[in-house]
This record gives sequence, structure tokens and C-alpha cells, in this order.
Amino acid sequence: MAPARPNKVKSEHHSWRLQLKKIKFPRMVEILPEVEGNRFAIRHFEISNNNLRFALLRDAIYGKCENTGLETGKYVKLIDKETGQTLMVDTWNEFVTNVDFINRAHGDVLIGGLGIGLVILPIQDKKEVKSITVVEKHREVIDLVLPQLPVNSKVKVIHADVFEWVAEQRYNVIYFDIWDNVRGEYYKETKTLYKKYRKFLKHDDPRSWIGFWRQEDFKRALKKVRMKKNPGIILLDSPISLKHYFIKSSY
Ligand SMILES: C[S@@+](CC[C@H](N)C(=O)[O-])C[C@H]1O[C@@H](n2cnc3c(N)ncnc32)[C@H](O)[C@@H]1O
Repeated sequence: MAPARPNKVKSEHHSWRLQLKKIKFPRMVEILPEVEGNRFAIRHFEISNNNLRFALLRDAIYGKCENTGLETGKYVKLIDKETGQTLMVDTWNEFVTNVDFINRAHGDVLIGGLGIGLVILPIQDKKEVKSITVVEKHREVIDLVLPQLPVNSKVKVIHADVFEWVAEQRYNVIYFDIWDNVRGEYYKETKTLYKKYRKFLKHDDPRSWIGFWRQEDFKRALKKVRMKKNPGIILLDSPISLKHYFIKSSY
């Protein structure tokens, strides 16, 4: 019998679902055609009934409900052919984990990581969003993705590494989504970025905010890695990262 799902996870997802209903997420597969670069590529893929059953079974085993809203159908992925990593997909899971940022976006917005542009499209039409600056490390990702995206005049993409780039203005909302997966070591990177960028927040705006994709999950994963050092405790891999691995890397 599958273990009972923790109530906290259930209610978190319930509120995400309500929030998600209010956001019009784009069908990226209709926007981004398949395209091959030297290192990166945009490819389409399908989630079949079997994939879906497997994802739900995995959730049940680990007492999660992260794939509850996942549907069969065609999707888009951005892959790094050099490392074999899938950097971004447009499945339900990505909507859920970015919904907080999308709701908070207002004024001048800074985003680290272009990916497939999934989070740009729902915020660019918000009246309260004035400008969107995206910093992307890989020129080829910009070249593959940006020409296809129906972005408006609020959006500007800069080719730079967020760890090195120096902002020239302050922002109301700063958000980093540069990671391909959930790993404990990424938590340290969020701390580095927080220290570097918090001074670029508009402190006179009470709603100003700096955030990181799945930072809490990085923290939990880090805790597990640390606990593994204790030889008395044997732990499985983080279910969150396993699940995420499935979502981003298995299609
Ligand atoms: C998960 S994807 C971003 C997803 C994006 N939020 C979207 O809506 O599609 C991560 C992106 O961050 C980029 N990236 C990784 N490290 C970076 C860095 N240090 N500076 C800027 N961009 C980076 C990757 O090339 C990739 O395009």
C-alpha cells in the first residue's frame, strides 16, 4: 500500500493549484519549434500514459504529489548536449515551482536564466510589470530561444553570467532560475547570489522581493547530504531530487 501523503505537501499543492488557475501559461510546444545548436537544442517530447503512471507511482512511493497535475501530451525541452542535461521543460511541475515569482512580479524585474522563456510570457502582459531584464550565460541559448519568443518591448536579454554581471540599476523583483535540478550544493549558490544582488532591490518598495527557484528544496537536499555523513543513518536519495531528475532528465 502506498504511504500516506503528508498533509503539508497536500495543502501546499492545493494552494498552488488555485494560484495556477489564475495564470495563463503558454503552450510552449506551439511557440518554440525544434532547433539544434552546436551545444544546446530545443526538442519536443511526449508524455505518454505510461510515463504519467510511472511519475504518479513514484510520487506515491515517496509520499509526494508533485506530479498530480501532470498531463499526457506534447512538451518542449531545452537540452545541453555536452552534459546530457535537460535544462528546462514546460511541464506542470515547472509552472508550480515558478508560480510564486510570477505572482510577485511587478515594476522592474530581473531574472537570472532565460531557459525556454516560460516565466517571461505570463509576466510581460501584467500591467504592473514595467521592464523585464533577463541575464543568460549561454549565447547559443539566447540565439535559439529569443527569436522565437513573442516577447514585447518590456523584455531585454543580456548575455552574461549572473555570478559576474554587475547590475546598473535597482529592481522591484529579482529572481534566479539558473539550475537544472535540485541539489544541496545549489543552496550555497543562492546565498552567494543573495549577497551579491540584495543591494539592487528597491528598498523603498515594501513589495520588493528577491527569490530563487526551489531554494527550500535545495536546503532540504543539503540537509540530507549532511546527514549522510553520519554513518549511523542510511538515507535514500532525496525524493525531491529523484522526482525532479525524472521530470527533467528522463524524457
Ligand atoms: C532552468 S533554465 C531557466 C528557466 C527559465 N526560468 C524559463 O522560464 O524557461 C536555466 C537557465 O539558466 C542559464 N544559466 C545557468 N547558469 C547561469 C548563470 N551563471 N548565469 C546566467 N544564466 C545561467 C541556463 O543556460 C539556462 O538557460
